[in-house]
Amino acid sequence: MGLLDGRRSPQLLEKFNPLLKKMEADWDNRARENAEYYIATRPEGWSKEEFFRSGRVHVEEMILADRANICQGKDPRRMRVLEIGCGIGRMTLALAEVFGEVYGVDVSGEMIRRARALAEAAGIKNVRFYKNNGMDLKVLRRVKFDFAFSYIVFQHIPSKEVIINYLREVHRRLAPGALFKFQVQGYPGVESRPDDTWLGVPITEEEAVEMARATGFDARFRVGAGEQYFWLWFFKQPERGTLDRVLSFLRIRRD
Ligand SMILES: C[S@@+](CC[C@H](N)C(=O)[O-])C[C@H]1O[C@@H](n2cnc3c(N)ncnc32)[C@H](O)[C@@H]1O
Repeated sequence: MGLLDGRRSPQLLEKFNPLLKKMEADWDNRARENAEYYIATRPEGWSKEEFFRSGRVHVEEMILADRANICQGKDPRRMRVLEIGCGIGRMTLALAEVFGEVYGVDVSGEMIRRARALAEAAGIKNVRFYKNNGMDLKVLRRVKFDFAFSYIVFQHIPSKEVIINYLREVHRRLAPGALFKFQVQGYPGVESRPDDTWLGVPITEEEAVEMARATGFDARFRVGAGEQYFWLWFFKQPERGTLDRVLSFLRIRRD
């Protein structure tokens, strides 16, 4: 089976069940041992304040500075946003200061438990956290989003199929034209094993473009190919129905 194996859940779920269980157990253990360290590794450790301040700084740099692509003229207060691999909410809580509604999902129930407790303690009401299975978004039922984001998460996933499945899932839930901005491991020297939950599989620029094409996205901007922080801006292509309508309208006008 090639990179863009078209199989969907439940066969995929069955195939990846052992890996998903391992991801959950490993990340639960990391959360119990030292969540802040494993989320944003720093040898000298973090105070809670510094840790959450780093989330605010990242939201300023990665979200506010990129507002034109993300909001596309919409009022952020009226936007619903998804973060995949939210951890204990380092960025999610800062995203909730900008956007109307924010949903965070994470494979680790322990991370999610902590994220919920922190949001509740801070009195933040427009954020929701869900434990998912590590490869799809079924836990969110029918909720749709205006923007999706993921940082330092896919770099820990050892399977391209799992990443592609997330792309399909995000695509299904995004508004036409909306953006999924995410980071993958781009450094080709990383030796990831199929059951590794720390070193994820590297993605080349060609693979990223092909993944976008196969899942209905336009891989419009790509920064950092070949490096650990390989950023991708995937815009959901307009629905085919809309495109067809525009084309037939233009044809009528030309005649
Ligand atoms: C390094 S932390 C980053 C957390 C958050 N993105 C941030 O920047 O603060 C990686 C997070 O991704 C989660 N994660 C790892 N693999 C995942 C998967 N397959 N699906 C969902 N979450 C996953 C981990 O549980 C962990 O909380």
